[in-house]
Amino acid sequence: MTVHFIGAGPGAADLITLRGRDLIASCPVCLYAGSLVPEALLQHCPEGARIVNTAPLSLDEIIAEIKAADAAGLDVARLHSGDLSVWSAMGEQLRRLRAANIPYDVTPGVPSFAAAAAALGSELTLPGVAQSLILTRTSGRASAMPEGETLENFAKTGATLAIHLSVHVLDDVVDRLAPHYGADCPVAVIWRATWPDQRIVKATLETLIEATDGERGRTALILVGRAIGADDFDESCLYAGDYDRRYRPVGTDPRFPEGTE
Ligand SMILES: C[S@@+](CC[C@H](N)C(=O)[O-])C[C@H]1O[C@@H](n2cnc3c(N)ncnc32)[C@H](O)[C@@H]1O
Repeated sequence: MTVHFIGAGPGAADLITLRGRDLIASCPVCLYAGSLVPEALLQHCPEGARIVNTAPLSLDEIIAEIKAADAAGLDVARLHSGDLSVWSAMGEQLRRLRAANIPYDVTPGVPSFAAAAAALGSELTLPGVAQSLILTRTSGRASAMPEGETLENFAKTGATLAIHLSVHVLDDVVDRLAPHYGADCPVAVIWRATWPDQRIVKATLETLIEATDGERGRTALILVGRAIGADDFDESCLYAGDYDRRYRPVGTDPRFPEGTE
């Protein structure tokens, strides 16, 4: 018996890995975080599967479901939205499973920041503009931010920010970032990327509040930084015609002559 943690992707039912889909199809028990995981994914469950929406359950109740499956020798597909490496509450479940000696594995999924960038058609790391992406959030009722992990500190780096779980405090986010990035810095809010009701607002830190018509609800990601929608950036050296590299030796004395490893 194994518990398969599976990244269910950002919303569109076809944005799951083939491995994730096949694992769902092989498991007689499926536990899914119903607040963000699309119900359409459940069509991959085998007939007669026990399917449980864990949104209203406590951690104890979720672990009790897993222990019951373990006692019956039944594999479990455990679905969380996006990818499991960020804000999935997987860590605390894995710790309980280790303590109970219940085997598990993890299959990654498409994270929401990648879905949001794709919806914008933006690369978030552009040469000479931004070479780092910071995935962060603001304090919530259930999770305080560790000291030092402030928007102001991240903003000082000039990196692209992907701010999760924060659209309800958008006005505050803008006020805190504008002094660092400048009022003309591009920003985009992407609500429910890849869902049928996806909405995108592109603006600057100065114009964003008006552009969003007061919409502060629903699931959304805030992307901030000079790379968002930029056209004025260097081309990468990697593909420059005169850049000598292992896979495309250039000149009379290439750094990596053909045939070398
Ligand atoms: C609990 S976290 C889950 C993050 C998820 N594990 C991931 O890989 O993106 C929920 C937050 O992720 C962001 N999010 C998740 N799905 C999204 C989507 N389809 N569009 C925009 N933002 C999304 C929002 O900021 C939301 O408040």
